[in-house]
Amino acid sequence: MTQAPQQRTVINLARGVLINALWVCLVNTASAQIFTHDRGPKALTHLQSGLSAEQEELFFLGRSFTNVPWVEAPAATTARDGLGPLFNANTCVACHTQNGAGGGYGPQGEPPRSSVVQLHNFDKLQQAWKGDPIYGPQMSINGNRDVPFEGLYHIVWQPAAHDSRLSYPKPKFSQLNYGPLHADTHTQLIRAPALIGLGLLEQIPEAQIRAQADPQDLNGDGISGRTQSVWSYASKSLQLGRFGWKNTTASVIDQSAKAAHLDMGLSNPLFTEENCTPTQIECNQAFRSKTLDLPALRLQAIAIYLSNLQVPKPAGKHTQGKATFNQLGCHNCHSNSYTLANGQTIPAYTDLLLHDMGEALTGEGVLAREWRTAPLWGLGLNQRQQQPAYLHDGRAKTLTEAILWHDGEARNSREAFNFLPLAKQQQLIAFLESL
Ligand code: HEC
Ligand code: HEC
Repeated sequence: MTQAPQQRTVINLARGVLINALWVCLVNTASAQIFTHDRGPKALTHLQSGLSAEQEELFFLGRSFTNVPWVEAPAATTARDGLGPLFNANTCVACHTQNGAGGGYGPQGEPPRSSVVQLHNFDKLQQAWKGDPIYGPQMSINGNRDVPFEGLYHIVWQPAAHDSRLSYPKPKFSQLNYGPLHADTHTQLIRAPALIGLGLLEQIPEAQIRAQADPQDLNGDGISGRTQSVWSYASKSLQLGRFGWKNTTASVIDQSAKAAHLDMGLSNPLFTEENCTPTQIECNQAFRSKTLDLPALRLQAIAIYLSNLQVPKPAGKHTQGKATFNQLGCHNCHSNSYTLANGQTIPAYTDLLLHDMGEALTGEGVLAREWRTAPLWGLGLNQRQQQPAYLHDGRAKTLTEAILWHDGEARNSREAFNFLPLAKQQQLIAFLESL
């Protein structure tokens, strides 16, 4: 309940500057050329065709604000100052390198820049999940001048209970500058997903997604899948969650605003406060400019940029591997059944639903067993990384490992995969690599 007044001011501010009609007309709904054949380093950075001159202008403005490093305020470059006081990285692409997904861990357990540690603490009085009372919802590994960063960590690999070939990462903190974490705080490693086709996912009619959900598993196929409503700061209403590994955000603009606030310490129309908790004195006393670090137009430009990027076209058909994918029931969650209002189909390989992924993929804190079906488009591009990684915390080093971690609702698929002859497994992997 203590959240309410603050939330109201945010909403009022948002109403003044974020005009929904403007936002809607800036999404590219024309039947544009949404695919690129480029599978090189720049594959995820191309503009879709069919945008108006105004949209294009905002696209390039958005590109610059996601790519160019931000600096601490006050600075000579007022357009890009306001980083911090606490932050993880100074640009979006430090984590989403060339808009791609985050990679894996170093040989000494060094975490990649693209992963964050989320902090979940169950508030018994309010019966709700919150962040850590001192550190907030996410650990910041950087701070401005005179503001101590929050903490540093490396990871320690733990053996999987269900399969001796696998292990998973646990964060181990080596320095915590604001004292120990609360005894009940859970730490969840989260890897940056690739920024692919986000505008298309956002345009899928809500009714289609809801129609695929089967929370009670009434059709008895062992796969339920459910939707989750989340608060959208941009539209000032509850909306279907579509983004983040747990469907915690409703729209590209909501997710961009949250990233600016949590990952980079940029105040913006949807998160007007800095990312400090009440006991973090240096953070609260740090310099802050009178204007928002990321004003409305620039926030919108970022969302327009991310919404109108081309999607990589699969390389080759891989008919047999795809047939195996369907035979194993992978397509029950990684489905391609959604169509946009303009009739365009969305080969995202996700139902955008939350699934109980069982003991093996149980994480920490809120909705510990549930994950959104990860979209598989562009998956093959992960191979270009030095240390490719898959799944929410980058625990899988190969696509085979990613499949072997599937449990819960996907357990039958995993077991069927395990029983396949090697040649068939390889065909399936080759198909995934072609996406
Ligand atoms: C410190 C690393 C980091 C930085 C910097 C960062 N992100 Fe992210 N991003 C992540 C992680 C981790 C997630 C997954 C969050 C989750 O699932 O809750 C994510 C998720 C997203 C998503 C959701 C994608 C999807 O498929 O659901 C979008 C969109 C996004 N970030 C945009 C941005 C933008 C825009 C910026 C810059 C303003 C940015 N990010 C900066 C790490 C980062
Ligand atoms: C019950 C639904 C379900 C089924 C069935 C399923 N998956 Fe998944 N898949 C998920 C979810 C949810 C995730 C994200 C889990 C996580 O990150 O912890 C995921 C993640 C993945 C990933 C990692 C993607 C990434 O970006 O890291 C791959 C690869 C994958 N699945 C392939 C498959 C294949 C191949 C099959 C069939 C053998 C399959 N899945 C069956 C739900 C499912």
